[in-house]
Amino acid sequence: MNTRRHFIRHLAATGAFFVVPGAFAEALTQTPAVGFGPFYPDHLPLDTDNDLILINDSLTPAVGAITYVSGRILGPTGEPIRNAIVEIWEADTNGIYIHSHSGGDKAKQDKNFQGYGRFLTGSSGEYLFRTIKPVAYTGRCPHIHYAVKVPGRDKWTTELHIKDDPKNASDGVTRNVKNPELLCAEFAPIPGAKAGELSAKHDIVLGFTPET
Ligand SMILES: [Fe+2]
Repeated sequence: MNTRRHFIRHLAATGAFFVVPGAFAEALTQTPAVGFGPFYPDHLPLDTDNDLILINDSLTPAVGAITYVSGRILGPTGEPIRNAIVEIWEADTNGIYIHSHSGGDKAKQDKNFQGYGRFLTGSSGEYLFRTIKPVAYTGRCPHIHYAVKVPGRDKWTTELHIKDDPKNASDGVTRNVKNPELLCAEFAPIPGAKAGELSAKHDIVLGFTPET
């Protein structure tokens, strides 16, 4: 460790304590909000668990690059948020949603893709989904929609994008979002994964601490 740097950091922290009591908890930048979009499911799939690759006991997986999407739901100072219901919904490999009016050719819908899932956070604030790496469809960069519901608050929505995807910069929905990089996560191969599965880690920082 660089002792000098460590020392300076220590001094800075001590100084902050005397000047602004309680300022140890550094505020995190809130994850940008992104609207619901038109394709939140208008009917729920038969299965709504956090594995979007297999519907109920089916043996046939969805088509796509299998990805473990995980992270934490955090409050403004990094405190984990428990009892948050995290929902995701996502187009299938052909850009089709679980929605009666989804764009794309319905005949090509992947019947094995769940398209929607939910997860209730525990005390660590962590969530986990198994889904496909999102694909682009007309007018949109690849994305996974999120809704986070905590007690006493309305649902709050955002999206997850793929870091460095060339379609991000020209995306019609998020072009005017401040800090769009905070919507992004790397979709990285899991070392040693036999079927080439990917992992994407994405913490979501809420702009408030729910009363629980
Ligand atoms: Fe969408």
